[in-house]
Amino acid sequence: MTTPAPGLPMVVPAPDLPARVRIHEVGPRDGLQNEKATVPTKIKAEFVHRLADAGLTTIEATSFVHPKWVPQLADAEQLFPLLGDLPGVELPVLVPNERGLDRALALGARRVAVFASATESFARANLNRTVDEALAMFEPVVRRAKEARNGHDGKVHVRGYLSMCFGDPWEGPVPIHQVVRVARALLDMGCDELSLGDTIGVATPAHVQDLLAQLNEEGVPTSAIGVHFHDTYGQALANTLAALQHGVSTVDASAGGLGGCPYARSATGNLATEDLVWMLRGLGIETGVDLGRLTATSVWMAERLGRPSPSRTVRALSHEDRAPDQQEQ
Ligand code: HMG
Ligand code: MG
Repeated sequence: MTTPAPGLPMVVPAPDLPARVRIHEVGPRDGLQNEKATVPTKIKAEFVHRLADAGLTTIEATSFVHPKWVPQLADAEQLFPLLGDLPGVELPVLVPNERGLDRALALGARRVAVFASATESFARANLNRTVDEALAMFEPVVRRAKEARNGHDGKVHVRGYLSMCFGDPWEGPVPIHQVVRVARALLDMGCDELSLGDTIGVATPAHVQDLLAQLNEEGVPTSAIGVHFHDTYGQALANTLAALQHGVSTVDASAGGLGGCPYARSATGNLATEDLVWMLRGLGIETGVDLGRLTATSVWMAERLGRPSPSRTVRALSHEDRAPDQQEQ
């Protein structure tokens, strides 16, 4: 055990957890995509730069989707060049189809993500396709991305998101075999990693572990799996711990708990990156993130958006919830 600095938890390691977790920060994409008021492109660029300055090394920057489908991210062409080449930082972007891939590659993107659904209802709502039509749309995207030569090592990394892995607002609980089938298809077409999305936040810890175990049984290695929890029912951290206990070491989170999906009612913000970092730090798990800088970034962004961050850690560390006699004079 070590004595905590002010504003940090005591470090009490737990057995059999990963030594390091890679946080896949989705604030600028998943966090902002649902905001009604247009966030100026310069503010988005500053957000990404501040996140990088706080030590995040994978920052999902935007989406090259149809601008009418996600108007908030219609400025992807203007934003991406403003981000520059941040040393040691990867800037993945969402690409639903070949048109999106062309736009992303033209700007030098080195990491792209396709986004599939485990359910027919969400595939239709989000992509205007059946599950299999969407997979057919992704196949040339993944193939061409793997043939492209934009990456540092000459390769483009491809992530395959898989939404509605636990429950779906139209279809209810989602059978695990449905998730496993689409996960397998994404890996078979060449995705380098999967991100399992609890889009509406209904998962609970044993459900997470069941899904991971069944994916392993179907030959999907834990090393290829990231988890993506939304915090609708306050379960995101518990679900993350369950995934870490299974060996997962890539966790998606959104600074300040921003987020939601415009095409899934009842999808609220993602797991807040600050809440995640607090827990990981307490467990002695390395992330490379400076919690103070990250919290300051979320407070800054909350001011721009005009409402406080829903993250408990941001609120605790930014004094908003302290009684007047606890505040510094
Ligand atoms: P569609 O209407 O079927 O499009 O939408 P289409 O293929 O019929 O094409 C229609 C027109 O759109 C054509 O133009 C295309 O060129 C154009 P026209 O010939 O008529 O002039 N078009 C594009 N323009 C710019 N960029 C593009 C593009 N593609 C087509 N990439 C489409 C199909 C996939 C385009 C649409 O459904 C779409 O953009 N969907 C994106 C929805 C989205 O971004 N949702 C949020 C992200 S997913 C999420 O948040 C979940 C996640 O966080 C994980 C979790 O929590 O579960 C990842
Ligand atoms: Mg999401």
